[in-house]
Amino acid sequence: MATAQTFRRVLLGVAGNPAVTRLATRHGLSLGARRFVAGETLEEGIAAVRALRARGMLATLDFLGEKVAGLADAAEAASMYRRMVQALASAGLEPNVSLKLSQLGLTIDRASCEQNVRGVVEAAAQAGGFVRIDMEESALVDATLEVYRTLARQFPEQVGIVLQAYLYRTRQDLERLLPVGLNVRLCKGAYSEPPSVAFPKKRDVDESFLRLLRTSLARARFTAVATHDERIIRAALELSRELNAEGRYEFQMLYGVKPRLAQRLVAEGHRLRIYVPFGTHWYPYFIRRLAERPANLAFVVRGLWS
Ligand code: FDA
Repeated sequence: MATAQTFRRVLLGVAGNPAVTRLATRHGLSLGARRFVAGETLEEGIAAVRALRARGMLATLDFLGEKVAGLADAAEAASMYRRMVQALASAGLEPNVSLKLSQLGLTIDRASCEQNVRGVVEAAAQAGGFVRIDMEESALVDATLEVYRTLARQFPEQVGIVLQAYLYRTRQDLERLLPVGLNVRLCKGAYSEPPSVAFPKKRDVDESFLRLLRTSLARARFTAVATHDERIIRAALELSRELNAEGRYEFQMLYGVKPRLAQRLVAEGHRLRIYVPFGTHWYPYFIRRLAERPANLAFVVRGLWS
């Protein structure tokens, strides 16, 4: 497992270089990114949501982007999110979206960011929809949780958060958030974090996930179990029976990852939502997907030759 962790750290490190980013994104969606990204336009994103719906799957739509350079870009991203909510509703689809606070200005000005997210949540509230706030690297966790807490008090049914099992702090964060009527997506965590803040070993991350899952299924308003790990999925099913959590949880998976497992879960009658990203700023998202599984690089290399 040490090699998988090293691979991940090196890939996330090299890929973060701005020159590498420019080079990689010069020719639009390429390098095998199509597998994980529904397209570059909102229309392509909606078409993917519709296709999943036809296969019995729910979706949450993500407009790719993070760490915008200025508040004008943040306002533009917020405007796109409001449009997404309306477009999904007009298409007769559930207006469910996922967003990153750094895309809505968190690293520039917290108050403006909160105002941007509030606008999206209000649009979702009007359309009977839902906004999930993704979780980014550990340096942004405090600010992200604070924005979530404020909005959750006002819109408990319309907004949810993500917690990452790899962070040591998450156990405490979960306890502290339960009183707001927590709607949480639990995931393992996708960023490169030092051992001072996150479990370095996969085994410990998995154990942490299972402990958090027990607390969340027992006491949170709603839990989204976001993983492609079959061992955790089976454990979640057992826990949900033990804790009578029927109707208070769903599974979530990423677009393009383990589609056969997704179809199997739906065939077994489980509620499953797919995270569907679209947009031109696909590169950092794509690199995190590559870093999760060394074998994914083989697809990229094959793509370069085809
Ligand atoms: P694990 O990595 O152990 O993989 C389990 C199995 O799935 C293995 O067989 C593995 O090969 C396969 N697999 C996993 N990733 C793959 C990939 N990219 N390609 C092909 N196979 C793959 N993270 C975060 O930090 N903040 C967030 O907001 C979110 N949001 C989010 C939403 C949803 C719906 C999901 C499913 C995941 C996230 N994540 C996330 C990402 C998450 O933290 C984690 O990095 C990935 O889900 C991979 O971990 P698994 O739980 O799948 O387990």
